[in-house]
Amino acid sequence: MKHIPVLLDRVLETLGDIKGRMVVDCTFGAGGYTNAFLNTGANVIAFDRDKTVVTTAEKIKTQYGDRFEFINKPFSKISELETQVDAVIFDLGISSMQIDNGDRGFSFRFDGPLDMRMGVGDNAVDLIKKSTVDELTKILRDYGDVKKALPIARAIKETMPETTFGLRDLIFDPRDIAPVFQALRIAVNDELGEVSRALESVTKILKSGGICVCVTFHSLEDRLVKNTFREWTTPVGDPRMPIVQKPEFELLKTFTPSDEDLGFNPRARSAHLRAVKKL
Ligand SMILES: C[S@@+](CC[C@H](N)C(=O)[O-])C[C@H]1O[C@@H](n2cnc3c(N)ncnc32)[C@H](O)[C@@H]1O
Repeated sequence: MKHIPVLLDRVLETLGDIKGRMVVDCTFGAGGYTNAFLNTGANVIAFDRDKTVVTTAEKIKTQYGDRFEFINKPFSKISELETQVDAVIFDLGISSMQIDNGDRGFSFRFDGPLDMRMGVGDNAVDLIKKSTVDELTKILRDYGDVKKALPIARAIKETMPETTFGLRDLIFDPRDIAPVFQALRIAVNDELGEVSRALESVTKILKSGGICVCVTFHSLEDRLVKNTFREWTTPVGDPRMPIVQKPEFELLKTFTPSDEDLGFNPRARSAHLRAVKKL
């Protein structure tokens, strides 16, 4: 299924005029955001750790030449960028191409190998093999809020499923299926660690006046972004004392999808857009 960019109009509205500016698209995916940024005249450096998007990036490169650079690495590697930039954008989570491809192992709707990797490294089967029941229980609780985490972790370790249907079929309560898949995916891809490391670098690579936009799709990601932005935008020190350190960022408007967005793209239903501007 083709990936429909979520909240793209709101992202563009938040960024304002980016003609001639340097924008980092941390989550290239199908290139929907990147294409829109390039069309408005911006220069784009895009990251994605999924190697299957390289051909799409190459096509865009032939069209836009030096105005576009693609880096096939996790976005925490923005720490290695040597230039300061005007905007950094994250459209987190997985793309429709990833979830709808049974061979990638992200979805319990299709049978396939229990892989779940966006990039390289250990897959979900490796993670299960290397984790103890206690570690697996913690993953299910922390990343999926799975109610019966302990018995499910035990069942997983006893059965050692190697396919998505193998995992799905050992989850006794159907309400736990989606949360278990979400939890393992977050752990396999170290999704929260990636976001937190990348945000740390954003404070360094953004120019003054630069904007960071994050679109999130689940509450754990959203809480991480919300708390980080709150920290960046809160003055440090006792407000009754004469010297209070001013914050480095200001908070911009937050958006959730409109009914029209949802009619067009149901995948947007849990999306939140948060943004900050460096002062
Ligand atoms: C929701 S899609 C982005 C869609 C894109 N905005 C578009 O308009 O086509 C998320 C993409 O981010 C990538 N991704 C997620 N986490 C990543 C990370 N830590 N480093 C690099 N890429 C990541 C995924 O591989 C996926 O292709």
